[in-house]
Amino acid sequence: MQFHVLTLFPEMFVPLETSIIGRARKNNVIQIQLTNIRDFSCDKHKKVDDTPYGGGAGMVMRADVVYNAYQYANKQTEGKDKKVIYLSPQGKKLTQQKVVELSKKEALILICGHYEGIDQRAIDIMQEETDFEEISIGDYVLTGGELPAMVVIDAVSRYVEGVLTEDSTKEESFAQNQLEYPQYTRPEEFMGHKVPEVLLSGHHENIRKWREEKALAITKLKRPDILK
Ligand SMILES: C[S@@+](CC[C@H](N)C(=O)[O-])C[C@H]1O[C@@H](n2cnc3c(N)ncnc32)[C@H](O)[C@@H]1O
Repeated sequence: MQFHVLTLFPEMFVPLETSIIGRARKNNVIQIQLTNIRDFSCDKHKKVDDTPYGGGAGMVMRADVVYNAYQYANKQTEGKDKKVIYLSPQGKKLTQQKVVELSKKEALILICGHYEGIDQRAIDIMQEETDFEEISIGDYVLTGGELPAMVVIDAVSRYVEGVLTEDSTKEESFAQNQLEYPQYTRPEEFMGHKVPEVLLSGHHENIRKWREEKALAITKLKRPDILK
């Protein structure tokens, strides 16, 4: 899976160099290319934004600069089954179902907005030209699309073959429209609290049943809205 991120702040993506994602990159299971949108400004001062027509607060990222950067990312991912995503609070909210769907693509181009966002014409043209979607990570407004892009990369990568063991994604929260059962590890007793007996029994069928019941009970309690 190839992720191509268009951003004004490539230096923000350091967290993706460590842990599971960092290892997946080293093993070349996923590739993350960071492209600075500023490199596509034709202005001698490398300006990427301007004041909004009609007035109002803040600055807007110029359509031509964003479109040029998008064209570059398009070339870099030529021939691949891909989707172009603009991270935006106005987009469809990211769900596990969407994450799994995105993981089936060969490449994702992730566009990070900043300031007041991107000139609508760049968005409209990309929508006309390509498989394009606006995705939000929740009903709140962040300063830029960089954190949302990292959220998408992390969540999608977990479903890319070779990043995790398959079992890790099969039983976890949201995988079957419910939350995961509680997990325990050593020691067997901590501050007077014991690990449930059944998990120490070695009886696989009883453990499976216990986990199934717990997952259902926890989902009913915490997130009844996701039960089908
Ligand atoms: C300050 S926001 C712009 C908000 C825009 N003026 C509005 O009210 O819809 C700047 C950028 O942050 C990103 N962003 C902010 N909140 C987001 C969210 N909840 N999900 C995804 N991206 C978000 C987008 O890329 C957006 O262009």
